[in-house]
Amino acid sequence: MDVYMSSKQQPQSLGEAPRTPCSWLEAEKKGALQKDGTEGPPGDSSKIKLSLQSHQRFVPTNYASYTQENYLYAGKKIVIQESIESYGAVVWPGATALCQYLEEHTEDLNLQDTKILEIGAGPGLVSIVASILGAQVTATDLPDVLGNLQYNLVTNTLKCAAHLPDVKELVWGEDLEHNFPKSTFYYDYILASDVVYHHYFLDKLLTTMVYFCQPGTVLLWANKFRFSTDYEFLDKFKQVFDTTLLAEFPESSVKLFKGILKWD
Ligand SMILES: C[S@@+](CC[C@H](N)C(=O)[O-])C[C@H]1O[C@@H](n2cnc3c(N)ncnc32)[C@H](O)[C@@H]1O
Repeated sequence: MDVYMSSKQQPQSLGEAPRTPCSWLEAEKKGALQKDGTEGPPGDSSKIKLSLQSHQRFVPTNYASYTQENYLYAGKKIVIQESIESYGAVVWPGATALCQYLEEHTEDLNLQDTKILEIGAGPGLVSIVASILGAQVTATDLPDVLGNLQYNLVTNTLKCAAHLPDVKELVWGEDLEHNFPKSTFYYDYILASDVVYHHYFLDKLLTTMVYFCQPGTVLLWANKFRFSTDYEFLDKFKQVFDTTLLAEFPESSVKLFKGILKWD
């Protein structure tokens, strides 16, 4: 069982400082850090500076209440700030399944220093675990969830990841070549958890998955299968990806697939 502690804590109001594993955020709130972020807690100051700039890029997501969930992966306690007010602000079962797989197959996957893109990252658990395991991660999602995603990434990776994860807006099927030109962006892995459910963007999602897969790229997609449309998406997925079922999680109905884009 990977969930370290699943008991919900009391919802926090927006004005209340979130409980965080990283005291530097508290220092930031109290004004202990200079504007360039180089003063404050011990550690690599350039790393802190980058993180702080990155953290400030997104305004806090404006949910009325938050809860916090604790997870344990790769030997680290991970605290995820969640809100039930958005699909993109709670951890879904596909995420815990994918994290379990990443943790158990780190050496096979050879994640150290690999470049990873996560699509539909939500509150960021998968990106955090991939970062802790040594990857250079870019976590992406719709604009309205990026503030909370950024918060979770920074607070959980600042002190324990060699490469601090980045956050970018990525709306499936929109402006891909403009925002992520293939000449500039190459990813070893594309990660996706519970991105297939009842929404109207399934074709754009598949287009996005295909777009980011270049020769050598491996797509890992974990999803809870609920609806006939989930299986219809899987059929389309299999038409364009050489597909391997890597794992099944019967207790949550999650299946984890590896996809390699067909090039013929
Ligand atoms: C069910 S949540 C899964 C979140 C996370 N991957 C997890 O498993 O915990 C689906 C995610 O996809 C994102 N999403 C939905 N439609 C999207 C779109 N058109 N473009 C980009 N992201 C989208 C949502 O914002 C949300 O974060």
